[in-house]
Amino acid sequence: MPEPITIVRTKDSRLTEDLRENSPFGTNYSDHMFVVDYCDGQWRDARIVPFGPMELSPATTALHYGQSFFEGFKAHRTADGRVALFRPMANHARLNRTAARLAMPELPESLFRDGLVELIRTDRDWVPRRDGGSLYVRPVYFGTDDSLMVRPASRYRFVIFTSPGGPYFAQPIRLLAEETYVRAFPGGTGDAKTAGNYGGGLLAAKLAQAKGYANVLWLDGKERRFLEESGVMNVMVIINGVAITPPLSGTILPGVTRDSALTLLRESGAKVEERPVSIDEVLSAQSAGTLHEAFGIGTAAIIAPIACIGYRGKDYEIPTGSTTGFAQQLKSQLTAIQYARVPDTHNWLLYV
Ligand code: COI
Repeated sequence: MPEPITIVRTKDSRLTEDLRENSPFGTNYSDHMFVVDYCDGQWRDARIVPFGPMELSPATTALHYGQSFFEGFKAHRTADGRVALFRPMANHARLNRTAARLAMPELPESLFRDGLVELIRTDRDWVPRRDGGSLYVRPVYFGTDDSLMVRPASRYRFVIFTSPGGPYFAQPIRLLAEETYVRAFPGGTGDAKTAGNYGGGLLAAKLAQAKGYANVLWLDGKERRFLEESGVMNVMVIINGVAITPPLSGTILPGVTRDSALTLLRESGAKVEERPVSIDEVLSAQSAGTLHEAFGIGTAAIIAPIACIGYRGKDYEIPTGSTTGFAQQLKSQLTAIQYARVPDTHNWLLYV
């Protein structure tokens, strides 16, 4: 029998209309967080408590040996005023795949769902009302042993907290195709959502930003030839009317938004290919005028049009802004489902 979740409400809510409606992505947090600890082979002490700092030993496993990862998805205020989460159980499934990759214990589905639903109910007034607004949900899971031994921790903490905001990128992005650094390598952790994958990408992103790009276009680790991801998102290109995205071959993240986009494209009868696509193919198509669009696909940004790819000292401009293009159509379709403006025929929404 799982123990009930205890709830300690804040006496001092920080909620204001301005914070809820105008916070940029990932800068402010709602009043509460869900916390549960793993110890002696069991998950214990599931609780909702006021959002705030946590005390950790300087020897905490996650800080030294990287047993740490996160997830991300969103809650939306639907057209009829209710609150719905978009595909959270797909994130739970990926969470347990990442946990297995980092030798961390499985998090039971019911614990995840019950904690999540209780948290969103507790902070439901934080879900933005404005068009395009959402409450971004950030689960984070990490090893908490107080030990310098290099081994999987015996104690863990799982936390969910939330952050009101708008889309991650407002403008089309410029990316620099990256040939020095790689994000992932076969047999590595590229298909898991480990904290280390993001840490390892920061220098390349910083160097690209110093040259005026928003982030890098990651190429494969072996040949630096095939597209992998666009910054922290999956990537899709439209060549000659065909939607092409790299396959889930072990080095790219199986994005939930990527999967949703592929489902919608296939249902609409679009030509879709999950296959390796090289930078040469993309740039040749750009020169021939057959690269119609390129975009990132991720939870935070949903669809982020790519306006330019920099490669070996040259910038290749890509059309953006077509209202009938794939990017715009996908974004409209996905948001229509998320805000329940159309029937949820895929059963993707979890109402709280
Ligand atoms: C996503 O949008 O899928 C992300 O994981 C972005 C997050 C790192 C801000």
